[in-house]
Amino acid sequence: MRDPKTYHNYCDLAGQMDREVLSYIKDLVSLDDKEHVLDVGCGPGINTYRNMTTFLPKGSTVTGVDISSEMVEFAEKHYSSPSMKFIKLDITDSNLWPTWRKEEFSKVFSFFTLHRVLNQRKAYENMYNLLKPGGEIITVTPIEDGLDILAPFLARLPKYAKYAD
Ligand SMILES: C[S@@+](CC[C@H](N)C(=O)[O-])C[C@H]1O[C@@H](n2cnc3c(N)ncnc32)[C@H](O)[C@@H]1O
Repeated sequence: MRDPKTYHNYCDLAGQMDREVLSYIKDLVSLDDKEHVLDVGCGPGINTYRNMTTFLPKGSTVTGVDISSEMVEFAEKHYSSPSMKFIKLDITDSNLWPTWRKEEFSKVFSFFTLHRVLNQRKAYENMYNLLKPGGEIITVTPIEDGLDILAPFLARLPKYAKYAD
């Protein structure tokens, strides 16, 4: 999904599932007054904004990152604030340092993103290194993507064959 406007219009279900998980784990996560959070795969920013404003203490700051410039530009335009910013980042990048600082974030969140990342080992390694000692990583990752099941069938239809690779 590369078009931020389209995803923005249809990502409410993902957001609802994010917040359901967050409310379920709320008592298991230790939250300080001022959390410093990284949201990996922030997309157009709407769910970063909604999830974080419902879940985090008011003094917290959030940095949303996404591999897509279009998503980051959209998020920055619509959802940035003194406590929320958006930056382009490929979480599987092997050269994060020194552009990024190790042990910077108290929490790393990632919703509906890591199942789409090929080099998951590198993604988790980077998230771990960006995390302060004692911090927590919270991810919502579908184990099986409905689209992966449907895709081979859709690819056989002339209408959709051109999108198959
Ligand atoms: C399905 S969207 C999820 C957006 C948002 N987290 C939500 O719950 O609505 C997945 C996002 O992950 C981003 N993404 C995919 N691979 C990535 C990577 N290697 N590093 C950072 N972001 C990535 C995509 O560009 C896309 O915006």
